[in-house]
Amino acid sequence: MTDQVEYTGMLYEPYLDWCKGEGIPMVEEFCVDLHHVETKPWARTGALGAFVHLRGRGDFITINLHELPPGGQTAPQRHLFEEVFLVIEGHGSAVVETSAGNRHSFEWGPNSLFAVPLNARYQLFNGSGSAPARLASTNDLPLKMNLIHDEDFIFGTDWRFETREGPDKSYFEGGGNFVQALRGPEMWETNFVPDVAAFELQNWASRGAGSTNIQFCLADGNIHCHCSEMSVGTYKKGHRHGPDFHVFIVAGSGHSLFWHEGDADYIRLDWGHGSVFAPTEMIYHQHFNTCPDPVRYVATAMGSTRYPFSAEKKAIKMGVDVNVDDGGFQIEYEDQDRRIHELYLAELAKNGVTCRMGEFMDESVLTRGAAE
Ligand SMILES: [Fe+2]
Repeated sequence: MTDQVEYTGMLYEPYLDWCKGEGIPMVEEFCVDLHHVETKPWARTGALGAFVHLRGRGDFITINLHELPPGGQTAPQRHLFEEVFLVIEGHGSAVVETSAGNRHSFEWGPNSLFAVPLNARYQLFNGSGSAPARLASTNDLPLKMNLIHDEDFIFGTDWRFETREGPDKSYFEGGGNFVQALRGPEMWETNFVPDVAAFELQNWASRGAGSTNIQFCLADGNIHCHCSEMSVGTYKKGHRHGPDFHVFIVAGSGHSLFWHEGDADYIRLDWGHGSVFAPTEMIYHQHFNTCPDPVRYVATAMGSTRYPFSAEKKAIKMGVDVNVDDGGFQIEYEDQDRRIHELYLAELAKNGVTCRMGEFMDESVLTRGAAE
């Protein structure tokens, strides 16, 4: 036996084979800066693109990066996979055609968030004649292509999913509806959020000091999206879960720590606007605001709050703010390694920012916790 066996006729990955045929860059990293990922002309869209495959992407979703050159536009698109777009840079507009033949247009800019209803025809336009625009789309093409492995069906069927379009045109204009959550923050259902960095969030203190959040259900989709904020001088509680949560920084800067149970040291990652990372399978992670302004991030994943998709994702949604000792996924502040807080204070001091954790809790527990 040799480990150089050439398998033929088996172990196909239709999604990756399809990517290779598209002729655009394919990057695979733990974290990338979406402002600087190389893109190349993508014949399918008429713009430029790259596949951004994060190591923690899981099996079902990934990121397509779209770049519209100054004055550029995409060719009309329509497909059977979901896309949740986050605008990384630039200004422009989108035109979406609904099943009734209505054309909705809306204007997007940095940190706009939107989803095109499943298989609706749409086109993206760069509104600037001098600056490029970049949009990152979290999409479930890996799931759809590996399941169906028929490109013509995925890109060529004309079935219209009317219920995905929203109850009225306000969903394409920044309007929507709040849905009362069973627990945690409420959910905002819409198709378009003009500026997710300015969206009013709701208190979710059980996830950490001064933590606020909103859940989104975009275009009645299966792809989850939420936005969280860490106020100045604070950080979230550590937690872990399975892969495929893609974390996009939309405001501020700071760092995250990553570790597996029993590790002697932490992996540290510094980030700012345009950074995206995806924690890998059951790796603990914790996010820290070390700058003088609030930090916001958008997280996408397979399995929305409306449609959790799998029993595992449903369990994560029910246990994300529950202590690991109680069968959940979160490490409470009093149980965390004291080195975590020591590093945080050192980073704040470098940036001239005052720690505000004491406004939300007994800060002394953060410095007396045993080193793990
Ligand atoms: Fe997480």
